[in-house]
Amino acid sequence: MHQSASALSELRLATRQIHESLESLLPVARPDATRTDYDLYAQDMWGWLAAFEAPLWHARWPAEMEAEARAGKLAWLESDLRHLHGGESVLAALPVCPYRPDLASLASRFGVAYVVEGAQLGTQVLGRRLAPQLAPWSPRWLTGYGERNARNWRAFIACAERRLDSAAARSEAAQAAAAAFGALADWFSVRRRQRAAQALQQARPRAGADLIGSPR
Ligand code: HEM
Repeated sequence: MHQSASALSELRLATRQIHESLESLLPVARPDATRTDYDLYAQDMWGWLAAFEAPLWHARWPAEMEAEARAGKLAWLESDLRHLHGGESVLAALPVCPYRPDLASLASRFGVAYVVEGAQLGTQVLGRRLAPQLAPWSPRWLTGYGERNARNWRAFIACAERRLDSAAARSEAAQAAAAAFGALADWFSVRRRQRAAQALQQARPRAGADLIGSPR
C-alpha cells in the first residue's frame, strides 16, 4: 500500500541535494574555515534574508508557531557583523539579494520557513568547528535559539506536519523550500563573483603603477 509522505520527508527530499552542495562548497563549512570566511558567510546570509524576514513572519501563522519569536535572525547577523567590523557602516553598504519569495499561501510560507529555521541546525555544527578561530567570541547567529534550538525545531516540524495536510500543500511547500535554497545558492555565487571582480579591480591600478615605475 502506498504510504503518504510526511511534510518533513518531502521538504528534505526537495532540498537535500542543494544542502549537500552548499555544505561541500561553502568556505565557511571547511574544517580550516577562518574568521573572514565567517564574516563573508554572515554578510551573504544577511543579504539573502534581509528582504523577506519581516514579511515572512508578519504574515498569518498558526498561534502554535510562535512566529514573533522566530522573527529576529537578521538582528543576530547584524550583531555579528557589527562585532566583526567595529560599527554600523558595514550594514549600510551590504547588498540585498533580489529573491522575493511568494508568501501568499501558508504552504509556501512553511517551505521558506523550513529553510530559515533549518539553517539553525547547521549553525551549531559550524559553531563548534569555528570556535578555535573565533574564541573567545561566540557569534550570535551561531548561538541561535540556544537551549531552545531543539524544542523550536521540533515545534516547527510538528506544526508543519499538522498544517500541510494534503499532498498539494506538501508539494507547494517543498517547491517553495527548493526555491529558497536555490536563491541562496545563487546569491552565494553572485557575491563570490562580485568579490573576485572587486579584488581584480583593486589590483589593476597597482599593476599599472608597477609597470610605470619599472625599469625598461
Ligand atoms: C554552512 C554550512 C552548513 C552546514 C555544515 C550544515 C549542516 C547541517 C547539519 C549537520 C544538519 C543536520 C542537523 C541535525 O539533524 O541535527 C543540517 C540541517 C539543515 N540545514 Fe544545514 N548546514 C549548513 C548550511 C545550511 C544553510 C546555509 C541552510 C539554509 C539557509 C541550511 C539548512 C538546513 C536545513 C533546512 C536543515 C534541516 C534538514 C532536516 O532535518 O530536514 N543549512 N545542516
